[in-house]
Amino acid sequence: MGIAGDGRCGLCAERYPKCSVALCAARYAARVNDPVCLADFESRAEARLPGDVWDFIAGGSGAEITLAANRTALDAVALLPRVLSSAGVVDTSCQLLKSEASLPVVTAPMAYQRLVHPDGELALAAAARDTGIPFVASTYSSVPIEELAEVGGTVWFQVYWLHQRSLVDGLITRAEESGCKALMVTVDVPVLGRRLRDLRNDFRLPAGVVAANLPAALHTQEILVPAALTWPDVEWIRDRTTLPVVVKGILDPRDALRAVSAGADAVVVSNHGGRQLDGAAASVAALPAVVEAVGARSEVLLDSGIRSGTDVLRALALGASGVLVGRPLLWGLAVDGAEGAARVLTLLKAELHDALTLAGCLSPAAARTLAVL
Ligand code: FNR
Ligand code: LAC
Repeated sequence: MGIAGDGRCGLCAERYPKCSVALCAARYAARVNDPVCLADFESRAEARLPGDVWDFIAGGSGAEITLAANRTALDAVALLPRVLSSAGVVDTSCQLLKSEASLPVVTAPMAYQRLVHPDGELALAAAARDTGIPFVASTYSSVPIEELAEVGGTVWFQVYWLHQRSLVDGLITRAEESGCKALMVTVDVPVLGRRLRDLRNDFRLPAGVVAANLPAALHTQEILVPAALTWPDVEWIRDRTTLPVVVKGILDPRDALRAVSAGADAVVVSNHGGRQLDGAAASVAALPAVVEAVGARSEVLLDSGIRSGTDVLRALALGASGVLVGRPLLWGLAVDGAEGAARVLTLLKAELHDALTLAGCLSPAAARTLAVL
């Protein structure tokens, strides 16, 4: 390894014997170990995390049929790239819910991020800020919303319905006063899906990881379960705030239409990353009918299983205006805090740039005119 035919080291390009093979071997090792795609972070994260924390993140509900279906269905979306059609510079940036984004991606709201890194949501919010995309803070964030807003960048707040309306009201006020730019109301958790891995592990939150937005009396080692909400509750939130409202967790076009009539500015076609109803359709399979039903009346975002720039392109080609990315950001966070999460996002941006270029699209908007088989 190392010495090329012309007498130069193939790794540091120095002429032998100036090159130190030991140094080059180290550099070589560092380089071959550099993650080159999002999946490269997965095994590294798994190696670093306690088994039960890994299972909580990676797992789905039941037999994990829906979790697997998300990937199978995305892989089955075959794109028809355009050629020789567009001269110019590819630009991945766009607007999502009137927020500027350097690529059509937002971070999926995910609870209890201090489980995977001591900096938790503070690190992921910083990575999103540095990449130029919105960060969505969960109601069950392990860092309070005020501290996340202080990180800067665009922050959206994800609302879980809680057993007292006054608690929800207080959270919305705090989100508004902190400067959050949108509310994302999650509607697919009337109860928590049956996550067999967590049941088998008797998974509990470790000391120090709590739902920091909620009053101390509600802090517990259990994963908190939100209360079931109803359409009138969504309408109450709509009337309660001037912020854009996103309804997350829609698969049936009839529910998408109901969300639009309740005043939603966007819907997220999502099966919660396969964590709620096992046997539910893959999100990407449900996307076209939702796009068709709501037309121009609301933006449509997609999540569940997005793992590459090609996946983002697939979602755009099927009519989404953007995607949420979940677990891969936790992998990056587990591997190297804010820097790891930022590397995941930088890779995703580079992949999307290449995918747009190869598909003959100069922008995310242009990608929505692509055909798929
Ligand atoms: C989630 N998700 C989620 N959704 C939500 O609205 N509020 C939340 O607090 C959480 N918490 C949460 C924790 C963990 C560990 C995971 C993995 C997921 C669901 C999340 O927003 C998103 O819908 C899925 O994660 C998307 O799928 P991928 O990208 O993870 O496959
Ligand atoms: C989850 C909940 C907390 O998916 O949304 O774990």
